[in-house]
Amino acid sequence: MTTKKKELIVTSALPYANGPLHFGHLLEHIQTDIWVRSQRIVGNDCIYLCASDAHGTPIMMKAEEENVSPEKLVDKYMNEHKKTLRTFQVLHDCYYQTHSEENKKYSELIYNTALKNGYISKQNIKQLYDQERNLFLADRYVQGNCPKCNAPNQYGDNCDVCGAKYEATELLNPISIFSKKAPIIKESEHLFFTLTKLEKEIKEWIDKSSLQDSVINKLQEWFKDGLMDWDISRDAPYFGFKIPGFEEKFFYVWLDAPIGYIGTLEKFLKDSKNKLTAKDLWSENSTHEIYHFIGKDILNFHALFWPALLHAAQFKKPSNVFVHGFLTLNGNKMSKSKGNFLLADQYSSELKSDFLRYYLASKLTNKIDDIDFNLEDFQKKVNTDLVGKFINIASRVQKFLTTNDNKIGIDLDEDLIEDFQNETEAIFNDLINLDYSNACKRIMKLADTANQYIDHNQPWILAKESINQKEVIKISSTAMNLFRILNICLEPIIPETASKIKEYLNLKDDGLDNLNISIKNHEVQKFEPLIERIEDDKIDKLKEASKSE
Ligand code: MSP
Ligand code: ZN
Repeated sequence: MTTKKKELIVTSALPYANGPLHFGHLLEHIQTDIWVRSQRIVGNDCIYLCASDAHGTPIMMKAEEENVSPEKLVDKYMNEHKKTLRTFQVLHDCYYQTHSEENKKYSELIYNTALKNGYISKQNIKQLYDQERNLFLADRYVQGNCPKCNAPNQYGDNCDVCGAKYEATELLNPISIFSKKAPIIKESEHLFFTLTKLEKEIKEWIDKSSLQDSVINKLQEWFKDGLMDWDISRDAPYFGFKIPGFEEKFFYVWLDAPIGYIGTLEKFLKDSKNKLTAKDLWSENSTHEIYHFIGKDILNFHALFWPALLHAAQFKKPSNVFVHGFLTLNGNKMSKSKGNFLLADQYSSELKSDFLRYYLASKLTNKIDDIDFNLEDFQKKVNTDLVGKFINIASRVQKFLTTNDNKIGIDLDEDLIEDFQNETEAIFNDLINLDYSNACKRIMKLADTANQYIDHNQPWILAKESINQKEVIKISSTAMNLFRILNICLEPIIPETASKIKEYLNLKDDGLDNLNISIKNHEVQKFEPLIERIEDDKIDKLKEASKSE
C-alpha cells in the first residue's frame, strides 16, 4: 500500500437542528467515521466535516413553539449533537452550522455565479396561503380531501390512501394546520435553478463517479420521468439567508444546506489557521477528493441538484456520493408515535459506543438495503464476536506470560502470524470499499483460527509441567501477536477498545506500517478485563427506552 497519499474531504449529511439525534443518524455517522479512520490508517489525509442544518420552516416553527429565537434553538441542538456524536467516538474535524457567515458568503457566491452563467430563471407560482399567520404553506402544512379519491386528512403533495400525486392547490376543502382555517390561493414570484439545462453535465458526472448500482438505477428512473427546474426561493417569513437583490425572499433550505459543507470547510481552515480558503480546496481543478455520505431519502439533492449547482457555479463536483439504507428497529420502521424509537443518548447511558459501532459495521455493506437493529441479535453478536472470539484470545493466554515477567517471548510461530499479516490488506480494502460486513467476517474468521490454535496447543495442560515452559510462552506469545494484528484491523470500528488494547500491549503508536514486524521480547502491562459481555438487563432497559415517548 505505497500509492500516493490522497487528500479527502468527507461529510455526513447535516442533521436538522430541531431535535435530538436518533439511531438512524448514528448509522450514518458511524459509517462515515469508520471510513475516515480506515482511510487515515492506510495513509490518506481526511478532513471530516459535518454541521447542523439550521434553516427552513420546521425550525422556525419549533423555535416559535419553544419561545426562543431560531438562532438560539440551532445553537442548542448543534451543541447537543456535537456532544452526542463525540460519545460515539465520531470525530469530526469541524462540526458547525449552516446559519453562519461562511455559509452565507458561499451561498451568495454560488447563487450569483449560477445567475451570471444563466442558470436562474423566474416564474410566478400559485400557493396556498394562511392569511391569519401570513404564511405560504408548504405541502405538509396543509390538509384536505384527496382530489382523486376524496379521502380526508391528506397532505398537500400526495394521498396516503390512493397514492395520487397532486399540487396542494388541488386539495379539496384545504385547512392550514396552523390557523385551522381555509387558506387562500396567492401568487408569488419564485426563483428557479434551471436543472433542465444541465442534464448532460449531470449525466457526465454520473458516468465519471463510481456510484452504487442501485443509486444509478434510481437516477435513471428520474431521468426517464424528466428533470424539472428547481424552486430555490421561499417567501418571508422564513428562517434562512436573504436572496441578494430581494427584500422578502430567502434561499430554500435545501439550497444552502449542501453549501454548508463548503462553509464548514471554510470554518475548519480558518480555525486551523490555514491560509487556503474552502474555494481553493473545492475549485474545479482541486486535487482534493470530495465524498458525501447520505441516506437514500436525500439522494436527489446530492446526486442531481448538488452536482448541477456546483457545475453552474464552477466548483468541483463530488468524487462520489455514498448512499446507505434506513435503520429499522426490531424489524419495524423507527417511529416515535408507534413506540419504536431509540435516541442516541438513551443508548449511551447504558452501553459502550464500540458495541453499537461493531454491530452496525457487521451489517453495513455498500448496498442501500435497510439495516435492522435487533436488540437480541445485537447482544448475541457482540458477546459472541467481540468478547467470545476477539478479546478471548488475549484473556486465554495472558496469564501464561506472567511467568515470563509479562513479556512476549522471542520464539514464535511465525508462519501463522504471517498468514494474519497477509490478510490485513484484504480487510482494509473491504473497509475502504464500504463492505464493513465482509471486513468483520474476515476478522472473525481469523479470530476463530487464533482460538483454534490455542485449543489445539492446549497451553493450560502444558503449563502443568515446568519442562514445557518455553513451549507455553511460544504459544501465548504467538497468540498475542495474532491478537495485536486483529486489534489494528478492528481499530476503525471499535476505536475506544482498540486504544485500550494498544495501551495494554505497550504499543501506543502501532499501525499498519509496522504490522509486518512481529512483536518479540516485549513487555505488556498487567491484564485487566478489556471489555465485558452485554448482560440481559441492559437489553431490557434499551427495550423499555425504545417504547417510551
Ligand atoms: N438536513 C438534511 C440533510 C442536509 S445535507 C446537506 C436532513 N437531515 S435529517 O436529520 O433528516 O437526516 C440526516 C441524515 O440522517 C440523512 O442522511 C438521513 O438519510 C439520515 N437518516 C435519518 N433517519 C434515518 C434512518 N432511520 N436510518 C438511516 N439514516 C437515516 O435530511
Ligand atoms: Zn386519494
